[in-house]
Amino acid sequence: MMKKILFIAFVFIAGYAGAQNITLPKPVKTGGKPLMNVLSDRQTIRTFSTQELSQVQLSNLLWAANGINRTDGKRTAPSASNCQEIDIYVFLKTGVYLYNPVANTLEFIEKGDRRGEVGRQAFIEKAPVVLVFVANWDKMTRYKNRPEDQQFYAGTDVGFVSQNVYLYAASENMSTVVLGMVNRDNLAKLLKLKNGKVMLGQPIGFPEKK
Ligand SMILES: Cc1cc2nc3c(=O)[nH]c(=O)nc-3n(C[C@H](O)[C@H](O)[C@H](O)COP(=O)(O)O)c2cc1C
Repeated sequence: MMKKILFIAFVFIAGYAGAQNITLPKPVKTGGKPLMNVLSDRQTIRTFSTQELSQVQLSNLLWAANGINRTDGKRTAPSASNCQEIDIYVFLKTGVYLYNPVANTLEFIEKGDRRGEVGRQAFIEKAPVVLVFVANWDKMTRYKNRPEDQQFYAGTDVGFVSQNVYLYAASENMSTVVLGMVNRDNLAKLLKLKNGKVMLGQPIGFPEKK
């Protein structure tokens, strides 16, 4: 009887682990390496050790990527006509979340470890954090009658966000690689996108020691 209760409790806890919003600690907006050192160190690295990011590092990473850096709500990354259409989905071991830069939270989307579903390259699921950048067309309605411009601007805007991640990684001696080869259709279903396009992925963690 006791074993049965423990088993049911385990299934219940395992099923619900991660199935909730996460409040991030305040990002630390000072420090890091000087800009010229960061640019010297910016590179793609495709190995990931088992080291996790701390909650503060995750918060700093997301703020660096596309957080709010001014009182008028503008972001660390520029966007065409200030559309701010690039949403960041965060794949962790516990589940999939949407970064909310206003509340500084991760909004729960899907439970379970789905990192391996982002792309086909084997290193992706080894990274403790895998980001997926989505162009949210609801925020680009001014371009809705100019689809070429919409695609072009979303493509340029996502590049700034990815570069911010590269620069943060270089500053913190982390490893990262931007991914054009992502499972766009499957991810759109997983993320329940109604009016958006999966643009790029970007795993991030710490390099394997040589
Ligand atoms: C738009 C874009 C898509 C990319 N897609 C992939 C990818 O799917 N997989 C991968 O391993 N690297 C990918 N990369 C990383 C490039 O291979 C890498 O940036 C390039 O080799 C230059 O190396 P560096 O970043 O160290 O300067 C991509 C880079 C860019 C800019």
